[in-house]
Amino acid sequence: MMIKYNGTDKVSVSKEDIEKALAIRAELKEDKEDYTGWVNWPSEIPEEWMSKMESVAEDVRKKCDRLIVIGIGGSYLGTAAIIDALGGSKPGYPEVLYAGNNMSGLYHAQFKEVIDNHDVCLCVVSKSGGTMESRLAFSILKDWMYEKYGREETAKRIVSITDPAKGILREETDKEGYADFEIPGNIGGRYSAFTPGIMFPLAVAGVDIRALVGGAKTISTDESFWSEGLKYALTRYALYEAGKTVEVFEYYDPSLRLIGEWCKQLFGESEGKDGKGIFPASLTLSTDLHSMGQFLQAGNQIFFETIINVLKRNADVKVPESAGPELAGRSLNDINAMAVKGVMAAHAKADIPMIRLDVEEINEEALGQLLYFFMMTAAVTGKLMGIDPFNQPGVEDYKQEIRNLLGQ
Ligand code: PA5
Repeated sequence: MMIKYNGTDKVSVSKEDIEKALAIRAELKEDKEDYTGWVNWPSEIPEEWMSKMESVAEDVRKKCDRLIVIGIGGSYLGTAAIIDALGGSKPGYPEVLYAGNNMSGLYHAQFKEVIDNHDVCLCVVSKSGGTMESRLAFSILKDWMYEKYGREETAKRIVSITDPAKGILREETDKEGYADFEIPGNIGGRYSAFTPGIMFPLAVAGVDIRALVGGAKTISTDESFWSEGLKYALTRYALYEAGKTVEVFEYYDPSLRLIGEWCKQLFGESEGKDGKGIFPASLTLSTDLHSMGQFLQAGNQIFFETIINVLKRNADVKVPESAGPELAGRSLNDINAMAVKGVMAAHAKADIPMIRLDVEEINEEALGQLLYFFMMTAAVTGKLMGIDPFNQPGVEDYKQEIRNLLGQ
């Protein structure tokens, strides 16, 4: 296993909660509830889906040097987080850009320049097919592409990933004959990391999607790993009950910043219900120690920390002589590892509960394990809190207010 969970002794877990967590695990594995399709999905994903993703990705690669992924929340964050963590697209593969994850005119105006200078394909991802941000960006980018390539060629440059049977994107896909993939009905956006919605654009970028799903499969079928996940979930729940209502995800490589964003979406949307939930925050260290270090050390102690600690990196820099005798000749990665230890020692003095997830190295297999590990944790903690971790009724209110203002 490429992930090792190290808990905290600042709280203890009750026998009763352990029993509850075991029952939750058994229920999840039975996959009888709404939106629990993700639990066994890494073992169930059909081989035809994998090979179709690979062959359509190959076609797309021949047509473009930029792939624009249009999607928001669970329909793009996993793609962006994995590509960034791996250091970008593989050399010679299309660069992946993102649209439709905001409604900024300024942001989307910039895509005109991208299209003018590059060969572009679009991958529109929307489970419902009706999300306002993705609909807007899709129509804007399609219009620009009609001008550049004409209608017929544009349709050949679009890959649509949506519900198999319903929604306006499904209707348009069938009418226009776009290449398409399904997001399984029983898997919600933030649990969709191993579905085509996330994996197809990864395949275009040259990511080894078989290794990614393989990582998730190993851990989803491994009892000992489920036990680690349950320990993490139980510890989070015990910390929450003890008044630690914020979890700060921390990592020491900027390339993991979007893993933090992905975690925020997963945990925030899964747990924030009925006045309950742990507020997820994320920090890139040591960068953010120079803004938030003071608060962590001596501020309002409402939080606990979860450190994603990468043990081995595939690139490094040797510190030159000019840095002075104490530092010269050292590896920058080793100094970064000292920072992890130093910060943890300082925070231990401040009595901050810390959970450390050691990740052997960042590659597709480890990312598959890590994302699945977080998904099982979010589901189990949410259920321990007594909420449904798979719905998001709270997001309807703001959406309706926006629709009212737009006269829809
Ligand atoms: O996790 C979720 O369910 C959400 O974040 C959705 O992924 C997001 O709202 C996008 O929805 P859709 O894929 O329907 O466009």
